Amino acid sequence: MLSTASPGQSRARRNLLVILLLLLLLSPAEVRARVTALIVFGDSTVDAGNNNAVQTVVRSNFAPYGRDFPGHRATGRFCNGRLATDFYSEAFGLRPFVPAYLDPDYGIRDFASGVCFASAGSGLDVATAGVFSVIPLSKQVDYFREYKRRLAAHLGGAEAAAVVADAVYAISVGTNDFIENYFAFTTARYREFSVAEYTGYLVDLARSLLVELYGLGARKVAFTGLAAAGCLPLVRARRMMLCAEEYNAAARAFNAALRGMVGELADDLPGARLRFADVYDFFAGILADPARYGFATAEVGCCGTGLYEVGYTCSGWDARTCMDADRYVFWDAVHLTERANRIVAEYLFNTTFVHFL
Ligand SMILES: *[C@@H]1O[C@H](CO)[C@@H](O)[C@H](O)[C@H]1NC(C)=O
Repeated sequence: MLSTASPGQSRARRNLLVILLLLLLLSPAEVRARVTALIVFGDSTVDAGNNNAVQTVVRSNFAPYGRDFPGHRATGRFCNGRLATDFYSEAFGLRPFVPAYLDPDYGIRDFASGVCFASAGSGLDVATAGVFSVIPLSKQVDYFREYKRRLAAHLGGAEAAAVVADAVYAISVGTNDFIENYFAFTTARYREFSVAEYTGYLVDLARSLLVELYGLGARKVAFTGLAAAGCLPLVRARRMMLCAEEYNAAARAFNAALRGMVGELADDLPGARLRFADVYDFFAGILADPARYGFATAEVGCCGTGLYEVGYTCSGWDARTCMDADRYVFWDAVHLTERANRIVAEYLFNTTFVHFL
């Protein structure tokens, strides 16, 4: 069909097209990545070094920790290298690691694309953080409030709000509430609660945390479930190398309750994209058949004897520490190697985090 438009009309149409194109190019959603930042709360599974700034014995900012981290730096991560959250950040096209909020080497410019508030030894239950005087979740959320104020001062209010709204929030916590607190009998919890009651108590706390973060602007939130805590080398070493089935049962019950709660909240909170990141079965599969994933052992850690060393007992001078951590699922008696973290992170990215893109 031939154009019947007058020269004036076609000029107007062309101008409109140019304006539309400019709008498209300049629209913030097009300029910004769809995930603006990775923001992390939790325990040693995701602490990037906050405990270095805290008076606690729960720390790992010395060799052999970090020996496979870029620059061979012992950052305070409980690992030979990077954590799952570092891999998520990289997969979102952000920095290949998430800096700790209390690390003096980083400032608000760095934190604008990712920040970690997690603290090794912490739990959902404030009594858990009390066991080793680490940063309780409530304090981690206070730091997040402070972070939002600093971000607004740095970027301006509108841009800071957009970063907060388009960030992905990764929460990994709960194991210590059982291992360090309930089953360790170091606090009053085991007298106050049955395991089922304590699980309910923890899931209520997790619910409050999610509601609080939602109120502060978080929308895309993944809460990682617990892995088979009864199969940590530290736990097995006291059971003739058998997994402690009551710990695993507690983890599964907690996961089931957490999954239900997250699903309900996702329906209740408008605009919330909450997800339960289910790691239990996948990780149990690695433990059952480590060779399938290229691991030589999943029973002991790389550090020292691999049976009890964690934190200060994992020493840089211990000649028994393995040479090739990639062959081990566990780095110390509690925490995963970088390679195991990478495999778990890939799985959770594929199944959960990818939905935030
Ligand atoms: C995740 O997805 C990628 C790309 O499809 C695939 O190569 C990788 O094997 C997956 N990893 C896991 C652990 O599922």
